Amino acid sequence: MSPSPFAASSFMIEGISALEIAQLYGTPCYVYSRAALTQSYQKFAAAFTTHPALICFAVKSNPNLAVLNLFARLGSGFDIVSGGELSRVLAAGGSAQKVVFSGVGKSRAEITQALLAGILCFNVESAAELDRINEIAGKLQMRAPVSLRVNPDVDAKTHPYIATGLKESKFGVAFNEAIALYQRAKTLKNLTIKGIDCHIGSQLTDIAPFLAATDRVLALVDALREHGIELSHIDLGGGLGIPYETHESAPPIEKYASAILEKMSGRKESLIFEPGRYLTGNAGFLLTQVEYLKEGQDRHFAIVNAAMNDLMRPALYSAWHDIIPAQTRDQPEKIWDIVGPVCESGDFLGRSRSLALMEGDLLVIRSAGAYGMSMSSNYNTRPRAAEVMIDGKNHHLIREREKINDLFSGEFCLPL
Ligand code: LLP
Repeated sequence: MSPSPFAASSFMIEGISALEIAQLYGTPCYVYSRAALTQSYQKFAAAFTTHPALICFAVKSNPNLAVLNLFARLGSGFDIVSGGELSRVLAAGGSAQKVVFSGVGKSRAEITQALLAGILCFNVESAAELDRINEIAGKLQMRAPVSLRVNPDVDAKTHPYIATGLKESKFGVAFNEAIALYQRAKTLKNLTIKGIDCHIGSQLTDIAPFLAATDRVLALVDALREHGIELSHIDLGGGLGIPYETHESAPPIEKYASAILEKMSGRKESLIFEPGRYLTGNAGFLLTQVEYLKEGQDRHFAIVNAAMNDLMRPALYSAWHDIIPAQTRDQPEKIWDIVGPVCESGDFLGRSRSLALMEGDLLVIRSAGAYGMSMSSNYNTRPRAAEVMIDGKNHHLIREREKINDLFSGEFCLPL
């Protein structure tokens, strides 16, 4: 979970202390390390140099323009799930030709937008979507590039909310219906069949389910060839897990890559990957300050100024995030529940953490770079946090803290 060791007894993010960032930008505040983002991208890319592969960063994990721009400059493509994400990618300087469009509910407007932008491929998730894309492409006198997202019925062994590759999931088309659907796609005049896609879930800490899914996908690619359907790319989705706890292990990218590359040996289809969390998760931190210490009979609560609206993962998935003080304190530790000000008992960021705390202390919530800010909300009319990018000794505001007035500026009272 590096890159940030303690230095001069204050938590450092690259060359700047968390205390200084908090003073400059206030809290709660999301902070990202440019070096860590770059390093994770380059590590992923380096693992796949022996076979043509395109990394399409999963925008949903961290859609800040500065983050997208950084990945675009590194050569990344993008996996989007909405027209809004496409607009962000283009605004950030990303190339439409490196965009794949996933998601079960693409609207007509979104399909039109993506066709006009000239994206690389639609990852189609149903027969009805295939027809809709064909119809819209026809009206625009275009041909739409498509892949089918197949559901390989593999258990990703992750939290049920983020497992997507089981038969009962809403995602993708059933494995045993895929060939018939490809044959149908072939008869639709305004489509070009490009490839195949699967994504079985997120935060996978074991590579076995990925490999099982890859085997099934490759078997399908071969069967399709026998039916006269040649694919040019194979999109294996995202989902590679990261360590959230110090003792937790996640598969090294090299192990994941070499196992997949071995299966690809002698094959000519190029690869696409859609990593989100792997690229951003451990490159981000949420800074929050202790408002109150409330010591009860049974439990001690540290009430901080970040809440479930800022970081929803603990409340939604019982996710564990490492929480450490930004400064060292020479006093005994106690066991604290780190909770926010939101009026829900589910509003916790961490439970039973052994920490030495005082009111006003700054805490660093680690591994917050993926699905942190992107899932934040204004619940309890709380303005969303600022976002800051650290680059060596430089710091850049990459998103302003929301202002309270902005939160209701689009609302109107009834006329008398
Ligand atoms: N591709 C598709 C089609 C996806 O649905 C996702 C994530 C990804 C790629 C990227 O997956 P990653 O590499 O980041 O695991 N909010 C949850 C995670 C939801 C993931 C949704 N889909 C969380 O905070 O754990």
